[in-house]
Amino acid sequence: MKLVTCCSFKGGAGKTTALMGLCSALVADGKRVALFEADENRPLTRWRENATKRNAWDTACEIFIADELPLLEHAYEQAEAENFDYALADTHGGSSELNNTIIASSQLLLVPTMLSPLDADEALATYRYIIELLIGENLAIPAAILRQRVPVGRLTSSQRTVLEMLGELPQTDRPMHERDAFAAMKNRGMLHLNIRSAQTNPAMRLALRNLTTAMEELHELGRFVDNALEQ
Ligand SMILES: Nc1ncnc2c1ncn2[C@@H]1O[C@H](COP(=O)(O)OP(=O)(O)OP(=O)(O)O)[C@@H](O)[C@H]1O
Ligand SMILES: [Mg+2]
Repeated sequence: MKLVTCCSFKGGAGKTTALMGLCSALVADGKRVALFEADENRPLTRWRENATKRNAWDTACEIFIADELPLLEHAYEQAEAENFDYALADTHGGSSELNNTIIASSQLLLVPTMLSPLDADEALATYRYIIELLIGENLAIPAAILRQRVPVGRLTSSQRTVLEMLGELPQTDRPMHERDAFAAMKNRGMLHLNIRSAQTNPAMRLALRNLTTAMEELHELGRFVDNALEQ
C-alpha cells in the first residue's frame, strides 16, 4: 500500500478537493483506496454522506478515521491488512505531531497551493518545513507542489510571477484548474460516478463535457502520482 498525503500550513489551499479528485481517478482506474481522515472536521466523512445520497460513492474506497495518533496507527495497519492499493491522507492545516507522523509515513507528499502571493508563501513555508522534517528523520520522500485552482483563462501578472517562483520547486506535471466540477465534488460525490450517471441523462449532455474535462485532469494527476511512486 502506498500512502499519499496532501499537506499545507494554509487552510483552504485545496487539500481535501485534490484528495477527493485523486481518489476518484484511482478508483475509476480499478484501484482500492483507503482514505485517512486526519482532519478533525471530517470533510471526507461528509463527502461520503453526500455522495451516498446521490448514489455517487464507490465502495472500492473506504474511510478510516485517523485524527489521533493511535487511530492513525490502527488505520494504517487495517488498510494494509485489507490490501488497499493506496491510502490517501487528508491532513488539517498547520503543523502537529499527527501531521509530522503522517508526513514521515508517506511515500509521496503533495502541497496544494493557489496562486496568490500569500498562498505561495505558505506553500513555500510548508515545503521547507517538510524538507527539514525529512532531513531530520533521514528520510527521502518525494514532495511536489500542486498548483490548485488555477484560472482557466488568462492569468494576472501577479499569478504569472507566482507560477514562475513555484517553478523552482518540484511540481505535478499539470495544475488543477478552478472548475465548478471540482468545487461540486464535496456535495456530489465521486466525479467518475457523476460522469457515469450524466451519460445516461440527455439533460446533462452539456454538463458532461465539463465533467469529462475535469476528470481528465484528475487522471493526469493519478498518472503523475503513479510515476512518482515508481521512482
Ligand atoms: N480546483 C478547484 N476548483 C474549484 N474550487 C475548488 C478547487 N479546489 C478547491 N476548491 C474549493 O475551495 C474550497 C477550499 O478547498 P478545500 O476544502 O479542498 O481546501 P483544504 O485545503 O482542504 O481546506 P482546509 O484547510 O479547511 O481543510 C472548497 O470550497 C473547494 O470546493
Ligand atoms: Mg481540508
